[in-house]
Amino acid sequence: MRCHRGSVILCGTLLFLTWNAVLVLLLRPRLPDQEGKQGPIDYDNNMVSEVLRVAEMLEKELETQNKILTQIQHFKPPRVAWQKKKVKPVSPLIPVIPVLVMACNRVTVRRCLDKLIQYRPSAERFPVIVSQDCGHADTANVIRSYGSAVTHMKQPDLADVQVPPEHKRFQGYYKISRHYRWALKQVFNNYSAVIIVEDDLEVAPDFFEYFSATLPLLRSDPSLWCVSAWNDNGREGFVDPAGSRLLYRTDFFPGLGWMLLRELWEELEPKWPASFWDDWMRKPEQRRGRACIRPEISRTLTFGRQGVSLGQFYDKYLRYIKLNSDFVPFTQLDLTYLKEDAYKNSFQKEVYAAPTVTFEDVQQGALEGVGPFRLQYSSKESFKVFAKNLGIMDDFKSGVPRTGYRGVVAIFFRGRRVYIAPPPGWTQYDPTWN
Ligand code: UD1
Ligand code: MN
Repeated sequence: MRCHRGSVILCGTLLFLTWNAVLVLLLRPRLPDQEGKQGPIDYDNNMVSEVLRVAEMLEKELETQNKILTQIQHFKPPRVAWQKKKVKPVSPLIPVIPVLVMACNRVTVRRCLDKLIQYRPSAERFPVIVSQDCGHADTANVIRSYGSAVTHMKQPDLADVQVPPEHKRFQGYYKISRHYRWALKQVFNNYSAVIIVEDDLEVAPDFFEYFSATLPLLRSDPSLWCVSAWNDNGREGFVDPAGSRLLYRTDFFPGLGWMLLRELWEELEPKWPASFWDDWMRKPEQRRGRACIRPEISRTLTFGRQGVSLGQFYDKYLRYIKLNSDFVPFTQLDLTYLKEDAYKNSFQKEVYAAPTVTFEDVQQGALEGVGPFRLQYSSKESFKVFAKNLGIMDDFKSGVPRTGYRGVVAIFFRGRRVYIAPPPGWTQYDPTWN
């Protein structure tokens, strides 16, 4: 037997056992014969069988010791928290998706960055690039404090934007638009996809998992133009609490934590607007019938009450948006149901097979059965009345209601799925609905 390193003790034990066996053989008393006399002993026979027995015993012992030895050799200590992860270079097959954080003068960008850094599974796959406008020194210090964990770039043109006199109060929207154009241009010089996050957004634990899993969809389906982390009607009580895996297509551009590809940027950059970039995106000339993916439960929440839009919707809706808290392993789920043809058919079927109900029944919780149910609207006014009274967002942008897909707004209300839907046979949005 070869004594392996680290098994000296075992070898010692075996030698000890062998030595004992020999002693037992030599010093053992002579066995009395059946009559109790010291009769003649068949020494040779006894000796042979005893040696065989001891040899067998030793062999067994050896086998056991060998097993233990193998276990020791193959034992791997459990990973402990303090063990430093090895930094592995990103394989060319794994896409790198930078996160572009748009910052200005909020020192609370720390809340945004802390969560991004806490949840990103890899700094190599998800480089965080903070683009700062506004030249605010305290905010710059906060960003700098992250050292090499983030890249800090600064929008160089801090002058006021020339705006028509009646737009003076919208100066902020012009600056945001200028900043977006500049920052996206920088990022797309080096990357082919990007996730944009504003400095007042906090991300959910599976934020990166969500975007990793949906990138292939975005790349392969030309009827998609973005993936967003945001559900405009994602308030607590309006989403299915068990629906964290559920994703939708929407014709309404949600923004607020969203991913786009370089191809789209190449298309938009030459005509990028001087202001109100998000509403501009929502116009038919830009959207061109394309949809975004959005979750049932938001993967971002906004904590920026005082923003450029002066909290237009903050206190009424945005502050209540529920942030997803559990981790959904999206990259391991089958997301092919989101592809256009499959989705359109099954969604239409589900919506229009659902029984129609009245607004009163919905509001009073008088729906019988588990659902889903369909609440039909046939004019801009009736949609607004339903939306206002149910507590969801009631505005349209270029004729599209928030979260709408082919006119349908899916909500969860009093424990039931309700589709607020136009009459069957819908063909297109009416951009005059505003
Ligand atoms: C709202 C939208 C926002 C959109 C903006 C422009 C919501 C909740 N927010 O902004 O998604 O981008 O309208 O239409 O719907 N910023 C600059 N330069 C400035 C001022 C702000 O780069 O001079 C940056 C901020 O750091 C932030 C973003 O622009 O990342 C939006 O600013 P914010 O003040 O949060 O405005 P909102 O009212 O939320
Ligand atoms: Mn904001």
